[in-house]
Amino acid sequence: MSNTLITTLIQIQKTSDLKPWTEQQWIDYLALTTTKLYLDNQDDPHAYLIVQEILPEIEIIELVVDTTFQQKGIGFDLLHKLFEHAQKNKIHSIFLEVSTHNQKAINLYKKSNFVQINTRPNYYLEKSGIKADAYVLVWYNKNLDKSAQN
Ligand SMILES: CC(C)(COP(=O)(O)OP(=O)(O)OC[C@H]1O[C@@H](n2cnc3c(N)ncnc32)[C@H](O)[C@@H]1OP(=O)(O)O)[C@@H](O)C(=O)NCCC(=O)NCCS
Repeated sequence: MSNTLITTLIQIQKTSDLKPWTEQQWIDYLALTTTKLYLDNQDDPHAYLIVQEILPEIEIIELVVDTTFQQKGIGFDLLHKLFEHAQKNKIHSIFLEVSTHNQKAINLYKKSNFVQINTRPNYYLEKSGIKADAYVLVWYNKNLDKSAQN
């Protein structure tokens, strides 16, 4: 993983309200064999989706679209790249946590067929110092043959 890419990922993350990772955290995270990184554009990325794949499940760690490039369908397209991968690789489900205050992301995930299965109270500490609950959302691979799930 090149330093240039990590610098770009850090810049994209900084445009969001999410807790920033250090360069070393990015290096360590990307070195894990279970980590998968999706970019909107390999040459000049403006958005990333980072996941942990521990078969037969995937956990979404972060999805960030640079603020300048939001509301152009990029977040939706990145999730669809992940769904295609899940369908090809017999992934059963994709999980994530999202702040109950993050309406943009909740709308995106609901539009992408995630369903709420749980709520984690006081899961996030926001920059303002306010605590926010997290929804646990899941996307089920409906194309998976029932017999393959056993
Ligand atoms: C959430 C986020 C990834 C959406 O990315 P995006 O590329 O702007 O989203 P898209 O253009 O693909 O929009 C898809 C859907 O998301 C929802 N959405 C996106 N922007 C929205 C906004 N400003 N207000 C309300 N809903 C919004 C809508 O449901 C939209 O569908 P629609 O266009 O049919 O209404 C982006 O806002 C972001 O990076 N936010 C900061 C980081 C973050 O909070 N990530 C999620 C937690 S890990």
